[in-house]
Amino acid sequence: MTVRKRILTGVRPTGPLHLGHYAGALENWLRLQRQYECFFLIADYQVSDYADDITRVRDAVWEVALDWLAVGLDPEESHFVIESLVPEHAELTTWLSWFLPLGMLQRNPTLKAEMDDFGKKSVPVAFFTYPVMQVANILMPRANLVPVGEDQLPHVELTREVARRFNRQFKEVFPEPEALVGRVPRLLGLDGNAKMSKSRGNTIDLKDSAETVARKVRGMYAGPPRDAGEPGRVEENPLFLYLDAFDPDHAEVASLKESYETAGVGNKVLKDRLTSVLETMLDPVRERRAHYEANMRLVCEALEHGTSHARAVARETMVLVRDALDLDYLAKY
Ligand code: TRP
Repeated sequence: MTVRKRILTGVRPTGPLHLGHYAGALENWLRLQRQYECFFLIADYQVSDYADDITRVRDAVWEVALDWLAVGLDPEESHFVIESLVPEHAELTTWLSWFLPLGMLQRNPTLKAEMDDFGKKSVPVAFFTYPVMQVANILMPRANLVPVGEDQLPHVELTREVARRFNRQFKEVFPEPEALVGRVPRLLGLDGNAKMSKSRGNTIDLKDSAETVARKVRGMYAGPPRDAGEPGRVEENPLFLYLDAFDPDHAEVASLKESYETAGVGNKVLKDRLTSVLETMLDPVRERRAHYEANMRLVCEALEHGTSHARAVARETMVLVRDALDLDYLAKY
């Protein structure tokens, strides 16, 4: 049997997944799930910003698992892992933080931007150190590849640096993982904001009903106002970004763009087309979701099996780490 290379990637359990997750990451996970041994992590140690809303975290663990099953991730093939049920993540985080200079965190652009979002509220220490835990997440199964959204690249870069340092200073334990960003690195929000995100309420969720999707698309920001029949500029209308992202008929999209700039195409035509494209894509997802929602025991088993396998792998890694650090005190006598 050939040993498959490993993927580790994950999301924070803060709510249902949306189209941005799909185009930015999930699509790659689906494509790679048979080629690699995959560890898909529900990162519940990484939600210190939701400390006063644990109910939401608890619900979101199930939402995420359901969304994963709904898009077609296969728990027979891959491991669905609840982070805090593999407490070795916390242990490895502690060891690794010995070797991670504070300045490297302070310079991390994603972390910087997220800390700014806290505004006047104080930032939990666990929030500041979450990239270290993310490094531990990735190194734990000795992953080779990390398919993620664009915003996560600084964390993968940090992981590579830590792996290099560790291997050089102690023993060769960790592969240096590569990052892989999805086809659409960052999907614009429905309101035209640079990022689709739950906290901005500008998402289309994978579990949204057909009516909700249609309503959200109708309300989408579609560029500067135009009179009916007036030509417009393709790059000013985000509807084209969505069509580029999700419409499989590229020739038709190209011809719509052409007419949009010359004869003019009404937003309603574009929105109707997008709605139907999304329907074709999301309908089977909704159907699979309904199947699992009616069989929550299957979801639970997927999480149990995946987590217990991940824990076994984590124990192996921790033996290698203790050995490399020369910390296996009791092995001496
Ligand atoms: N921080 C990631 C996010 O917000 C989630 C995550 C946690 C992750 N651990 C990971 C992603 C490890 C990739 C690898 O989306």
